[in-house]
Amino acid sequence: MKRRAFLQQTTALATLASASSQASNQTIKNTGPIILSTWKNEKANIAAWESLQKTGRALDAVEAGARIPEADPNDTSVGYGGFPDRDGHVTLDACIMDEKGNAGSVTFLQHIMHPISVARAVMEKTPHVMLSGEGALQFALDQGFKKENLLTETAKKAWIEWKKTSKYEPKINIERHDTIGLLAIGNKGEISGACTTSGLAFKMHGRVGDSPVIGAAVFCDDEVGGACATGLGEFVLKTLGSFLIVELMRNGKTPQQACEEAIMRIVKRYNYKEFQIGYLALNKKGEYGAYAIQKGFNYTVTVDGKTTVIESGYYMK
Ligand code: GLY
Repeated sequence: MKRRAFLQQTTALATLASASSQASNQTIKNTGPIILSTWKNEKANIAAWESLQKTGRALDAVEAGARIPEADPNDTSVGYGGFPDRDGHVTLDACIMDEKGNAGSVTFLQHIMHPISVARAVMEKTPHVMLSGEGALQFALDQGFKKENLLTETAKKAWIEWKKTSKYEPKINIERHDTIGLLAIGNKGEISGACTTSGLAFKMHGRVGDSPVIGAAVFCDDEVGGACATGLGEFVLKTLGSFLIVELMRNGKTPQQACEEAIMRIVKRYNYKEFQIGYLALNKKGEYGAYAIQKGFNYTVTVDGKTTVIESGYYMK
C-alpha cells in the first residue's frame, strides 16, 4: 500500500463501508469523560480511554493516546516510521497542555520514539515550555529515554524514491492520518490536549510546523475548552488556530461554529485550494465539533468506552 495517498477518494469509500462513520458538521453533545482525536485513530482512543479508567486524568489519557501512533512503524507521519526530511532525518515535534494551563513541547527532536512523553517531562520537570533539537535530545537522554533509530526500511525506501524527483508536494490528506491531535475530559471534568508528529514528509531539514506550538496545534483553557489542529502546519501557525478556537468558544460560539470560523480565517486570506487543515474542538460541557477545508478529514470519539469515527464537515464543496 502506498504510504501517502490522497484521501479524497479513499475516505469516501471508507465512509461508505464503515457503519460507525457518520457525516457531521453539527455540534455534538456529550456528558462525562470523553476522548477525541484527529483522524481515524481508534487504537489511540482506546489506549487513552484505558488510561482514563486507571488514573481518571485527562493529561494521562492524551499522553497514552499519542504514544500509540508514535510507536507504530506503519504510521508514516508520527514517531517511529515517520517519513524523514529531505536529508533523511526523522525529526519530531510534540506538545501537551494540562487543565492548569501548564504546557510542554519539543521541536526538531531526533532518535526518541515518544516525543509526547518528553514534552510532558519538559512541562513537569523544567522551568521552560519548549526544548528543541540537540538540547531536547540531551534532556530526553538525561530523563532516561532511549536513543533509537526511527527510520524504518519502508520510510528509507520512500525517501530514496522521493529523491529521484525531489518534488516537495504536501498531500491534501494522508492515507491513515497525519498529525495526531488529542483532547480529553477527565473524571473531574478537567480538559487536556496533546499533539505529536514527524511533520511533513521530505520537509527542509530544520523545518518545524505547528505541532509543538501551544496555541497553534493545541490549546486548552479549563474555563472554556480545548482545540487541536491537523494539516499543513504553516497555515495553522499563521492563524494560531487552536488558540483562536478556544477564544471564539469563550465568546459564545459552539465548538462547531468556532472550528468553522477558524477555517474561514484561512480561506479568506490564503490560497486554500491546495492544502488541508482540520480542526477539532471540545468545550467544558462536553460539546464537540470539527471542520476542515477539504473533504476527507475525520476524527475519532470515545464516550462510555465506545469509539466512533466521524466524518468532519468541510468548506470546499
Ligand atoms: N501539522 C503537522 C505539520 O505541519 O507538521
